[in-house]
Amino acid sequence: MKRLKIGLIGTGGIAQVHMRALAKTEQIEVVAVCDIVEEKAQRTAKEFGVPHVFTDYHDILEMDEIEAVNICTWNQAHKDPAVDALHAGKHVLVEKPMAATLVDAAAMTKAVHETGLVLMVGVQPRFGSARMTAKSIVDAGTLGDIYYAEAVACRRCGIPGGSFLAKETGGIGTTADIGVYALDEALHLMGHPKPVAVSGIANNMLGTKYASQAMGCWKWDPEALEVEDFGAASVRFENGAFLVFKTSWVMNMDSLGHTLVLGTKAGIKMNPLTLFTQDYNRLIDITPAPAGKDGDLFLAKNMAFAEAIWEGTPSPVPAEEMLITNVIIQGLIDSAAAGREVEVSVPEV
Ligand SMILES: NC(=O)c1ccc[n+]([C@@H]2O[C@H](COP(=O)([O-])OP(=O)(O)OC[C@H]3O[C@@H](n4cnc5c(N)ncnc54)[C@H](O)[C@@H]3O)[C@@H](O)[C@H]2O)c1
Repeated sequence: MKRLKIGLIGTGGIAQVHMRALAKTEQIEVVAVCDIVEEKAQRTAKEFGVPHVFTDYHDILEMDEIEAVNICTWNQAHKDPAVDALHAGKHVLVEKPMAATLVDAAAMTKAVHETGLVLMVGVQPRFGSARMTAKSIVDAGTLGDIYYAEAVACRRCGIPGGSFLAKETGGIGTTADIGVYALDEALHLMGHPKPVAVSGIANNMLGTKYASQAMGCWKWDPEALEVEDFGAASVRFENGAFLVFKTSWVMNMDSLGHTLVLGTKAGIKMNPLTLFTQDYNRLIDITPAPAGKDGDLFLAKNMAFAEAIWEGTPSPVPAEEMLITNVIIQGLIDSAAAGREVEVSVPEV
């Protein structure tokens, strides 16, 4: 049986989901955990029987028996451990978004190119049956030429708390939190075209104005909200395609629609996955049967990471692909600040 020994950096909320998933397999063993808050690292180590506990991630990087790290720190603390881990010879699984800024994401991609190691960004919907089915439909050429897409991830009222609200920790808000899933979904189906221009808005007019109690939904502190709770953008790509991106943590609307992709031969809408064609001289809506019941997607993404290391195959969710999400998010933020469309490009690293 192939085995992988890893260290886990950042033992907050999502780390617990990883630890519970990893407890289901003997193939990936967490031998060290680290958090800048020692008590959190100790608590996780005790609950899951992890032998080594640190408050400085560099100590994990010095352990020879560790081949890879799983980075579950807040967005602004993804880059340093990822770059340092790669240069210490450790493969990296890092939580989404890849980074809070384009500069950080580019530095991480550069470190991948310098070291040749696996860096995977943990966007687990890639391992769900709906996405895998949609991707196989696109890869079969069913859609023809893709010329338009919408990437949509919205909550009517769901501003998270904790480290998500501050610029120093989260860095950016809904665009990087739930928005990045939708961007990844659309870009994955579009084949990752290169963005060249973005026009966007970002604001937090609702979240800073109303207390969560007044809105009868998730609890957050309106005074602590420094990042955007709403973002929207239009994106032009080098190949002529166009994307509309919409994301919100809170809004006075039930929905802003679904992620969808339009091609010259067919279109796909996600959630639920539906294929639209004009075959047989008719409009046809096809709902593919699920490929299977989704299991634990956190286990699936950790196993996909481990398989890539064992087999020497490319990262299942590579830095180069996720860098494009950072180009678009940065473009949205920069365009919103400038109040006009901005030119963007994928950094050459
Ligand atoms: N894939 C998913 O479904 C999913 C869901 C939620 C969150 N996330 C992502 O996971 C990340 C963490 O989110 P969370 O909800 O667990 O946040 P959190 O604030 O609960 O946990 C982050 C932890 O990182 C620790 N930390 C910060 N800097 C550190 C450093 N340099 N070294 C060691 N520890 C450090 C903090 O002390 C904290 O315990 C975010 O990037 C978030 O976007 C992913």
